[in-house]
Amino acid sequence: MTSRRFSRYFYNPVSYLGALLALLVFIVEIFLFALDMFVGEGNLYIGILTYCILPIFLIIGLLMIAAGAIVQRIRYVRGQTDLRIHAFHIDLSLPSHQNTLIVFFVGTAILIIMTLIGSYKAYHYTESVQFCGTMCHEVMRPEHTAYLKSPHGRVACVECHIGSGANWYVKSKMSGARQVLRTIAKSYERPIKTPVDNLRPAEQTCQQCHWPEKLHAIRDLKRSYYLTEGDDREWVVRMQMNVGGDKDSAAGVHAHMNVDHEIYYAAEDARRQKITWVKSVDKDGTERIYVSPGSKYRDAPPPADKVRKMDCIDCHNRPSHRFEAPYRLVNDALRQGRIDPSIPDIKERALKALDKEYDSTAEALESIPSDLRAYYEKKHPDYLREHSGAIDTAAETLKRLYQNDFFPEMKARWDTHPDNIGHLTTPGCFRCHGGEHRTLDGARTITKDCKACHTIVEQGPAGRTERSLDGLDFIHPVDDDNGWKEMNCHDCHTGGGP
Ligand code: HEC
Ligand code: HEC
Ligand code: HEC
Ligand code: HEC
Ligand code: HEC
Ligand code: HEC
Repeated sequence: MTSRRFSRYFYNPVSYLGALLALLVFIVEIFLFALDMFVGEGNLYIGILTYCILPIFLIIGLLMIAAGAIVQRIRYVRGQTDLRIHAFHIDLSLPSHQNTLIVFFVGTAILIIMTLIGSYKAYHYTESVQFCGTMCHEVMRPEHTAYLKSPHGRVACVECHIGSGANWYVKSKMSGARQVLRTIAKSYERPIKTPVDNLRPAEQTCQQCHWPEKLHAIRDLKRSYYLTEGDDREWVVRMQMNVGGDKDSAAGVHAHMNVDHEIYYAAEDARRQKITWVKSVDKDGTERIYVSPGSKYRDAPPPADKVRKMDCIDCHNRPSHRFEAPYRLVNDALRQGRIDPSIPDIKERALKALDKEYDSTAEALESIPSDLRAYYEKKHPDYLREHSGAIDTAAETLKRLYQNDFFPEMKARWDTHPDNIGHLTTPGCFRCHGGEHRTLDGARTITKDCKACHTIVEQGPAGRTERSLDGLDFIHPVDDDNGWKEMNCHDCHTGGGP
């Protein structure tokens, strides 16, 4: 027998192939590692390849070497009658055994070091905003785009979606792996489902940065609107939000999440928009149950798995992914002159352009200017002839607005992902505060008093507003026969209309 460098079992096609694979991957890895060092954090794909995909092939290669040898040995042993051969032994006097061991230990050491660097790097990459927000381009585009212009545009996705701790880390990587498979198979939902069922409780995410005891400011909120008709078209509302709710007081909006005051609720739909059963538990343990007319939980309380304890996210559900409604985008653009308010019918046309359902962003960007021109050619040809530039500017503005807040490919926009703060264009607070939720004996109603949550300190046409720090009674900007008192605001204000 010729003397071999390694134990004879390694000399088989499977082990050869494994060694070739491992060697190739190893060389490529060294190259990519160096590249990654120089290119820096910028390149996501190199990172994914180097630290997530290639190591898998390296390990496959190494396993093939071992598997080939094991099979060889089993075959060899079966053919022997000498029992001593059956015992596994290492003989350091044999050069082939020495070589095998040296390669084994050196190889293992290199692999462990690479694994350490690799897993640190892989951790780093899969936790980055870049990975979460852009890896699956189309899928995450709506959330990522909205995120970038939100107050949290510099808070990493994982701070809210995962938080700290090993067990949530593992959970997130497992669901992450499922999501990657779905992205590859293109079997994800459009839009991505909201609310997120298994989002980590806000105490362990939001409250790491926002200290509940410190959330008791009064917040000044100034809104202005641009009415469709009339001489005084800009209308101003300024109010103070009674945020309140520190540990020692039960007042203000944040009283809901006051440490000693808890609210539980059950919704009849998956999106938590139709809330029909609410329970509040006071500091001293007093419970009150409110139901809305027609609630299916009027006679029997909802099963425990339908009941949710209210936390930050039940109001702040879009702290980082707010898709703006057309009415607000158009109002702002008119007020700022990015759309000329003197163009006839322009508010209505602009709302229609943004509200229309397109199949793709490309289609929207093409249709918005052509629809607008077609309308003015037909209805106001004289105006168009003299002010063609104003129409073009309006179209350009609308195109820009559309790209930021509407995502037809993922079917995501303001009305598919309603914001629960407020009540003008979405049910929001009025899911419980619409004036319909009463205790069974009818004695108490969850308040709809306009002064409970905010104090209007200024309102009216711009330049001629009335002011009072004691609070003003709300005046609806247009006469609607007191409809605003009888109905909920979002019954008329859809967000895409007035
Ligand atoms: C400030 C906290 C915060 C940050 C930062 C954040 N998110 Fe979210 N995200 C949320 C909340 C809250 C929800 C909705 C939870 C609910 O209603 O159940 C959400 C929902 C989502 C959804 C579900 C679909 C939807 O629109 O409701 C996706 C997808 C998502 N986020 C992706 C991301 C990505 C990608 C990033 C980083 C680019 C990110 N998030 C950063 C808080 C955050
Ligand atoms: C890593 C820290 C961090 C986490 C986690 C975080 N936030 Fe914030 N949040 C901030 C900072 C910083 C600001 C202030 C941004 C500014 O003023 O521009 C802010 C601002 C806000 C505001 C005020 C926004 C406005 O319009 O001015 C709200 C509301 C808010 N966060 C809610 C949440 C909620 C809800 C969560 C959990 C889903 C959360 N935050 C998680 C850091 C965080
Ligand atoms: C009952 C609904 C509700 C709940 C629950 C709630 N908030 Fe708020 N929060 C509001 C409203 C309303 C405002 C006023 C600002 C606005 O209108 O956008 C506000 C304001 C804030 C602000 C901005 C304060 C400022 O001075 O600018 C932060 C930060 C905030 N909330 C964080 C939280 C956190 C963290 C939680 C969970 C511990 C939470 N909120 C729970 C309704 C709620
Ligand atoms: C899940 C149901 C629910 C939602 C949604 C909800 N609330 Fe409440 N809220 C309640 C209940 C229940 C009470 C009264 C508890 C009691 O005294 O029995 C209450 C009380 C309040 C109070 C104290 C009122 C008073 O006069 O004592 C304020 C302020 C308030 N909510 C603000 C808000 C704001 C702002 C929003 C929307 C951002 C909101 N709530 C959304 C259930 C809800
Ligand atoms: C349960 C609390 C609550 C009650 C009751 C309530 N509001 Fe509000 N209101 C809010 C919150 C929260 C916002 C949103 C603030 C924001 O957009 O950040 C808001 C916003 C508004 C706005 C500005 C709307 C916008 O989006 O531009 C107006 C106007 C308004 N409320 C009027 C009223 C009137 C009139 C009533 C009485 C019928 C009323 N509110 C009752 C909580 C309440
Ligand atoms: C019966 C239908 C109806 C109801 C209910 C209603 N509104 Fe209106 N609202 C209108 C119409 C119509 C306009 C005029 C829009 C325009 O001129 O473009 C309007 C305009 C407004 C505007 C100016 C907004 C803009 O974009 O021009 C505000 C603010 C407003 N309403 C607040 C409220 C609030 C707050 C409530 C609930 C308390 C409410 N409305 C309920 C029909 C309604």
